[in-house]
Order: sequence, then C-alpha cells, then structure tokens
Amino acid sequence: MSVWASSERWFDRRASWAGRRAAVALLLGLTWLVLVPAMALAAPRRANLILHAARLGAPISSTQFGAFLEEINHSGDGGLYAELVRNRDLKEDPNAPIWWSQFTTGHSTGSIALDSTQPLTSANPLSLRLSIGAVAPGKSVGVANWGYWGVPVRPSTSYRVSFFAKSSRPSSGVLSVSLVRLLDGKVWASAKVKAITNAWARYTAVIRTPSGIPPSLTNRFVISTSDTADSGSTMWFAMVSLFPPTYQGLANGFRIDLMQKIAALHPGYFRIPGGNYLEGENPATRFDWKTTLGPIEDRPGHDNTAWGYWSQDGVGLLEWLELAEQVQAQPILAVYDGYSLDGIVTPPEALAPYVTDALDEIQYAIGPTSSPWGAQRAADGHPAPFNVKMIEVGNEDNLDPSGSYDAYRYAAFYDAIKANYPQLRIVATAPVTHRPMDVLDEHFYHDTPSYFAAHAHTFDHVTRHGPKIIVGEYAATTASPTGTMSGALGEAAFLTGIERNADLVVGASYAPLLTNVNEPNWYTNLIGYNGLTSFVSPSYWVLKMFATNHGRRLIASRLTGGHGTLFEVASRSLSHTYVLLVNDSGLTQTINVRLTDTRRGVRGGTATVLAGNPSSVNTLSNPNAVVPAVHRLRGLGSQFPLVLPADSLTALNLHTS
Ligand code: AHR
Repeated sequence: MSVWASSERWFDRRASWAGRRAAVALLLGLTWLVLVPAMALAAPRRANLILHAARLGAPISSTQFGAFLEEINHSGDGGLYAELVRNRDLKEDPNAPIWWSQFTTGHSTGSIALDSTQPLTSANPLSLRLSIGAVAPGKSVGVANWGYWGVPVRPSTSYRVSFFAKSSRPSSGVLSVSLVRLLDGKVWASAKVKAITNAWARYTAVIRTPSGIPPSLTNRFVISTSDTADSGSTMWFAMVSLFPPTYQGLANGFRIDLMQKIAALHPGYFRIPGGNYLEGENPATRFDWKTTLGPIEDRPGHDNTAWGYWSQDGVGLLEWLELAEQVQAQPILAVYDGYSLDGIVTPPEALAPYVTDALDEIQYAIGPTSSPWGAQRAADGHPAPFNVKMIEVGNEDNLDPSGSYDAYRYAAFYDAIKANYPQLRIVATAPVTHRPMDVLDEHFYHDTPSYFAAHAHTFDHVTRHGPKIIVGEYAATTASPTGTMSGALGEAAFLTGIERNADLVVGASYAPLLTNVNEPNWYTNLIGYNGLTSFVSPSYWVLKMFATNHGRRLIASRLTGGHGTLFEVASRSLSHTYVLLVNDSGLTQTINVRLTDTRRGVRGGTATVLAGNPSSVNTLSNPNAVVPAVHRLRGLGSQFPLVLPADSLTALNLHTS
C-alpha cells in the first residue's frame, strides 16, 4: 500500500514521536519531489470538460463525507457540550477550586475552598465549601463560576440550573441563582431555590432572561444567599450545572449553533471518540467508557492526557453515540486496543480485559435490551440500538514501532468482534497481514496545500484487491485556529480524488472538527468558537460543498487543459448531474463543459462558488471573509462555457434528465 501518509502532529510533547514523524515526513517529502511533476507556470489555455452522463461509475457511499470528533481544543467541555459551568466536578486542580470565586456584595464576607470531608458520591468526593462570614442586610454572599472564558447570556432564554448542596445548619431563607455581569455586578436574570438543609440534596431552578438585553459573554453564574441568618454558617456545593437550551432539547446535550453547523455538513458517519483522546498517554487515562455512564455525579471524569486538560466525561459513551444520532450519521466507534501514546504496548497475556471491554462496548451500542450492556443502555435512556456498522480498532497504530498491532493486537480484536458481530466491518488503523482489514484508516496532514493537490490522484493508482480506505483525518495545516483559503483549495483538489475513487475510499473526515479559540491544542481546525458565537473556515465550506453536491453514482468525465491546476469529479442521480471543479491557480479560467447522453441538456440548476484570496481566513470577528455564493443557471443546453474564478471551488448542481 503506497498511500500511507503519516499525520504530523503540530503540538507534540513527545520528543520521540517528533523524531519519528520527522523521519516519515522527510521520506514523504522526498517521494513527493521525485514523483510529482513540476507544475506548468504558463498561463492556462481554454480547458474542456466532457461529462458522459450515461457512463455510470461506482456508487457513492452514504458515508463518503463524514465527521470526526474527540475531546481536543475544548471540543466537548467548553465547546459542543452545552454545560456552562466550568470545573463542575472540582477536579481540574487538586489544590484549588479554579474557575470559582466567592461572591460578596456590600460589606458581606465569605470565602471558598475545596473540601474533601463532605463527599457527594464516591466518584465525586470533592465539594465547594462556602464559609459565610457575615451577610450584610440587603446584600449577598455566595459562589460564582466564570464558565469557559465567560458565561454566555442571551435575551429571552431559559437556563436550567441544577446543583447539590448542604448546609451546616438549615438555612431559613431561599438561595438565589443568577446570571451576573462581571463588570458591575448587574443581574441579568435570577431565580430562587428553596432553602437548603444539612443533608445533601439536589436543587433545581430555571433562569429566564428578559427580552431586549444584548448577548454577552463577560458574565458569571452565581449562587448566593441574602439571608442575614446565614451569617457564620457553612454551605457545601457539588456538581453545579447550568444548561442553556440544547440541540433538539437533549437534556445532557449539545450546543445549538455548533450542532447546526455540523448537521449542515450532512456527515454520513461520525468517527468517535478519538483520536489520541481514545488512547491517552497511558492505559489509565484512555477513554475508559464504562466510567462515563450514568448520572453525572457518578462519573469520575478522567485526565485527558492526550490533550492536557481534565475531561469531566459529561460527554460519555452514550452522549458520543447520541451526538452521531442527532445528525443522522452512522457512528464509527473506535475501541481502545491496548496501545497508548507514550508507546505503552499491552503484552499478549494482558490484552484480554481490553478485548472484553470492546465487546461490552459494542453490546452497549447495539446489543438487544435483553443483553447486560444493552439493558444498561436502556436504563440510561436509550433502548433503541445505535446504527453502528463499523468498529475501528485503536487509532494510528502505525505509530507503535513494536509491530504488536499486526503481531497480535489487531487479530485479538478482529477475531472476538467477528465471532460475536459478524455483520460489523472492522477498520484497521495500520496495515496488517495476519487478519483481513475490511477498511484501513489513512490520515493526511500537511502544512502545504500543494501536498493535497498532489495527492488528488493518489487513490487512482491503489490496488482494488486490498481493503477499502477511509481517510479518517485530513487537514492542510495552514493557519490557526482555522485554515486559509489556499489550504481549503488543496483539500478540495484532494477530495475530488476521494470521490472519484468512491469504489475504494468509503469516507473522509476533516480533523480536528472543533476548537475553542481561547485554547486550541491543535494548529488548524474546521470550526472555531468562543462561548457566545462560532464561525466556519473555508475548509468547512469545501467539505460542505462536496457533501451536498453528489449523486448516487459517479459518471465518466474527461478534463483536458488547465496545466494541472484544474481538478474535477462528476456524479449523477436520476435527474441531477453534479460536478465539482477546483481552479487551483491565481488566474480566472474558462472551461467548455459538454454533456453527452442527455436528452435535453442542462435545463437549469445552480453553481455554488467558493472563491477568495489564498491567504484569507474566517474569524470570530470576520466570519464571512470567505463564503460561497450561489448562482442560478438557466437553459444551458448540452454545451456551455463556465468561468472558474481564480482560486475557487465551483459546485454545479445541474438539472438534467
Ligand atoms: O486530529 C488530531 C490528532 O491527530 C488525532 O488525535 C490523532 O489521531 C492524529 O494524530
């Protein structure tokens, strides 16, 4: 297999990895120098594209364009997971209740601290202690949370509050829960919670903001008392939670604007839950799915050693699967396979528990409710099985230099999964020889857009006698936190090759999908956001244009001219013909399009055009620097000229019959 392109990790704290990757990159670079012909610099001539509508090629799979997500860049916590309270489980720092502060108004006094003497559950033994000095008349004392770089407040919005609390003596008054502006303490909205007692109990409320207030982020969430009788008492809080409305109303669910953006990509699959996040630096910090189920207060969370921050596991296995389900994508479930990022390889005699874990995990996802883990799924609120058809064994096991993946690890998982679930397809993350690979996951990262254009024909030459391929991760790593137009164009050229080889390549997903702009771990990402707003990159538009402009079958097409700067792929369904055309040059090019085998030529349609300066990026403050424009087409006949702007991707959706 000649197409293996090792990913290049932008943020890599492991020197040995860096060395190994550098060697691979050098090797690839040399191959590139030898194999890729120099691009002609001359001005392009008129190009021709012939579309043979009746010469049908391979079917295009429903999984052709997908999504991949893991907990990186605050993709879940502080991102897609709608929870607004940061450090809800108080485990981000063992020594201090970071992201929390005491809240006092007037001459009131109080202080906060972590407390391990008042455990809520065994999974969450820490609580936030509020020692109240004095509550001044008409004033307040409480605890405040700063959220993930601010608590977003919007007009006419309901926020669900929930927390556990207890008091050193029964409080006579009610508590207030409020959304408060940081600058001046202005209370945007608040609600009352009944007086707390001296035993742990759960309290809930809904805060409704008024209409007409401006959306803002520099706010805190506050729980406070104004009862002077609480002076000198102590209160404890745990698992404090604040949820805005979520996508499709899922209780423990996801942020609406980000889900809408993901759903608009129409991902055919969702590869979850990693990535390096699945592996952890060591087995103890892998994604240990059994600890991520049930009520949030019973989830211990874990150290996300792959990306250097605490994961509270509010997004547990159930939520990862629900995420895919909510955007109607087939989950590709990656299971931990005994290899972690620090190069820790599980020996053969110790592998069995991980194989059992994987089988249990699959049973949780798709087993009948009469099975133990299927019953657990039902108890967790999802009796119906999820639509899992592919299981990925590990992640990037090509980085395990010991050869253990091929020697015994892949085989152990393959045999066990196939014996129990023969209908599932197994995705390998490195080439193996001792068992079949149904699908092989290839990752492509490079900081040079031309690397991707140069790989537009890579899959044309790959044997059809081997496994299917899924490009589980790709990205031109051109800029941060999201990429440039030139990177997107390189990716577009690459995606023409992926679609044109739909008989071989069954999917492609950009990585990483999400980043909170306040703390990216990875250099280039697809969608950026803070707590309040979000934006998409040119690469997003490219992926969306591909995902939403293809038919059921490829059709034969022939492109001439363009001096290697034009790339295309064509497909059709019953009455529509789709063409994606990349002009990866700085010159406008006109192309003659001719359709054969259509009775009436092109009766109408649209041309969606993404064009922009190669260095352009979208940002939070300028989210629409690069956006596609849709043009209506009418009565073109069977032959027409098409102008391709410089540095552009054009998606034709032609009404043909
Ligand atoms: O997408 C970021 C990381 O790149 C993934 O976690 C890993 O699979 C790859 O190295």
